[in-house]
Amino acid sequence: MTDRSQFGIDSTADDVLDGIDLNGKLVLITGGSSGLGVETARAMAAKGAHVVITARDMAKAEMVATDIRASTGNNAVEIEELELGSLAGIRAFAERFLAKHDRLDILVNNAGVMACPYGTTEDGFELQFGTNHLGHFLMTGLLAPVLIKGAPSRIVSLSSAGHQFSPVVFDDIGFQHRDYQKWLSYGQSKTANVLFAVGLEKRLGERGVHAYAVHPGAILTELARHMSEEEIEGYRQRQAAGDLHVKTVEAGAATTVYAATAPELEGRGGLYLADCRVCDVDDRAESWSVVRSYAVDPEAAERLWTMSEEMVGTSVSF
Ligand SMILES: NC(=O)c1ccc[n+]([C@@H]2O[C@H](COP(=O)([O-])OP(=O)(O)OC[C@H]3O[C@@H](n4cnc5c(N)ncnc54)[C@H](OP(=O)(O)O)[C@@H]3O)[C@@H](O)[C@H]2O)c1
Repeated sequence: MTDRSQFGIDSTADDVLDGIDLNGKLVLITGGSSGLGVETARAMAAKGAHVVITARDMAKAEMVATDIRASTGNNAVEIEELELGSLAGIRAFAERFLAKHDRLDILVNNAGVMACPYGTTEDGFELQFGTNHLGHFLMTGLLAPVLIKGAPSRIVSLSSAGHQFSPVVFDDIGFQHRDYQKWLSYGQSKTANVLFAVGLEKRLGERGVHAYAVHPGAILTELARHMSEEEIEGYRQRQAAGDLHVKTVEAGAATTVYAATAPELEGRGGLYLADCRVCDVDDRAESWSVVRSYAVDPEAAERLWTMSEEMVGTSVSF
């Protein structure tokens, strides 16, 4: 029998799912064509879940789905096209999804882009905020009715310890009045992911839909595609000096899967987790295992919600 209190930094998604049965559960994972999304999908499919992964590159996604079907023996692994940088694309995806499914048990808002050069989404939003937060905000809002029907259900958003780089700068989310800085932009978007979990929990928690934000750890994936050679070398040196713990992809998916399924979290939400545990709110600790107070501030969560509704042009209320 697994001692669930022992899960930690090196636990894998398979460890966390030991003894958990996901037969009959429908799971939707964004960004399932690479990295953590693939392992999250594989681990949940291995436990019997019906998994839908979204991707931009459908050929890449079909290879992933074929591998997962083969390795798990679970044929209920589907792919769907979704570009989070397009509000029209998100609406079209949600319409297709709602036409096929009348309930959803677990939504994993996993897709993300990190530290890219300045760019904008199709609708003109700064790329990291637009993709990482606004895209998921609209999609989750449109899918909320099936999450409510699926209750008890869960929404897990991939944030990051990088949220510590920046709060949401409400007066200049799009970097119109300051120089663009790719890490501040990433931090802002990842803070928004935590605040979104707080806002979701307030609206849906009492209806049995609980929301979580997670830091998966530091894992070498395609997420590093926009990092410079110097930045990657800096990470290598910190790892060699024992200053940075780099996780395997299997361990990197563990906290997501934990937030999505752990029985001990039932009835709780609006939480930030890392290394398979709920983190303390701490504004001083130089630790990646704490969450800054600005990221769980209920007033900031409300302000972000209202601003996000205005930006996507849709009232997201349930
Ligand atoms: N790896 C880490 O160390 C780490 C640390 C902290 C937090 N995280 C978070 O974990 C999540 C997963 O990251 P990962 O490491 O697995 O990175 P990854 O391998 O780069 O995977 C990211 C996924 O997001 C998709 N994506 C990116 N932009 C998109 C868009 N505009 N529309 C739709 N899908 C899009 C990518 O699709 P394409 O293949 O088409 O690009 C890919 O499937 C991210 O939210 C990241 O911020 C990761």
